[in-house]
Amino acid sequence: QSLKTYNTFGIDVQATAFVNITSVDQLKQVICENNNKLPLFILSGGSNMLLTKNVDALVLNINNKGIKVVNEDAGFVWIEAQAGEIWHEFVLHTLAENLGGLENLSLIPGKVGSSPIQNIGAYGVEIKDTFHSLTALNLETLETETFSATDCEFGYRESVFKNKLKDKYIITSVTFKLKKAPHMLHTSYGAIQHELELMNVSNPTIKDVSNAVIAIRQSKLPDPKEIGNSGSFFKNPIIDKSLYQSLVEKNPDIPHYPVNESQVKVPAGWLIEQAGLKGYRKGDAGVHAKQALVLVNYGNATGEELINLAKYVQATVLEKFGIEISPEVNII
Ligand code: EPU
Repeated sequence: QSLKTYNTFGIDVQATAFVNITSVDQLKQVICENNNKLPLFILSGGSNMLLTKNVDALVLNINNKGIKVVNEDAGFVWIEAQAGEIWHEFVLHTLAENLGGLENLSLIPGKVGSSPIQNIGAYGVEIKDTFHSLTALNLETLETETFSATDCEFGYRESVFKNKLKDKYIITSVTFKLKKAPHMLHTSYGAIQHELELMNVSNPTIKDVSNAVIAIRQSKLPDPKEIGNSGSFFKNPIIDKSLYQSLVEKNPDIPHYPVNESQVKVPAGWLIEQAGLKGYRKGDAGVHAKQALVLVNYGNATGEELINLAKYVQATVLEKFGIEISPEVNII
């Protein structure tokens, strides 16, 4: 089975075996029947991975669906989505119910089940801000367990599922605690305010903020249906203030976000652009012309070609700025 249509980079590699999963019971049954014969490979939206070779494994394509309200009080609604729900469709569902909290995370590719793994974030909001709990199947015991936000150990594009519990669980559902009106809007990040002005909106609703985010994303980020990519390829590096101070001397307009007393985060996209690589292309692998943080597959690039491009970008940024940038996508 080719995985080309199951990863947003559009890389054409083969899987040894492939099963479409639509319920937790079926998931357990498939794992039992496999009986450790093949290693398992969990496929969610395929939007944050770069496949570099055939997947010699049993691919589990997580597609269990369902959204339901599990609790409610005067101010909040607890809403649970099954792992196979498409993230953006879930966000639109919460907006239609006039529930606030996920509007800044509109149009992020992928499915609900993978959203906690890297604590997806955009425009000043991360899912940890509204996350309540998740259920996950323990691959050793085949029992379902519940994880609180604390259990998940969320960080910037990080969680326990990328670290000490890597490959030990399959997330089966996620519950968010979302706010009823009146809503708290987060419009100070980046271009949101500017976009709302362009839209002629003076008293924005959560739907307006979502529309602004969608417009900004569509203007900068390539649509994987048209051109293969996995969103931001690199994380924004966190550097010491002393290094930042020396960079500011030469580059007074370097954007930055405070992290703590001694560190700041700088945008990798800016570093890559200043290193002269925005729009750089080698064969079918390239640095996106509108957002340098995104690597793209113009057609038939292989995983290997994209990795070589990524290494070239890393080396160039290191040479110019003395900063190491590391991939955000999972390289497989
Ligand atoms: N910039 C450049 N040149 C570029 C790209 C960016 O100079 O080619 C500058 C921008 O002008 C801006 C700054 O870098 O001053 C930051 O850019 P932007 O706000 O577009 O965000 P980002 O740092 O490039 C991060 C996330 C995105 C998320 C946006 C918006 C990471 C790794 N990426 O990108 O997440 O959508 O902020 O919040 O943190 C993803 O993870 O896949 C992703 C798309």
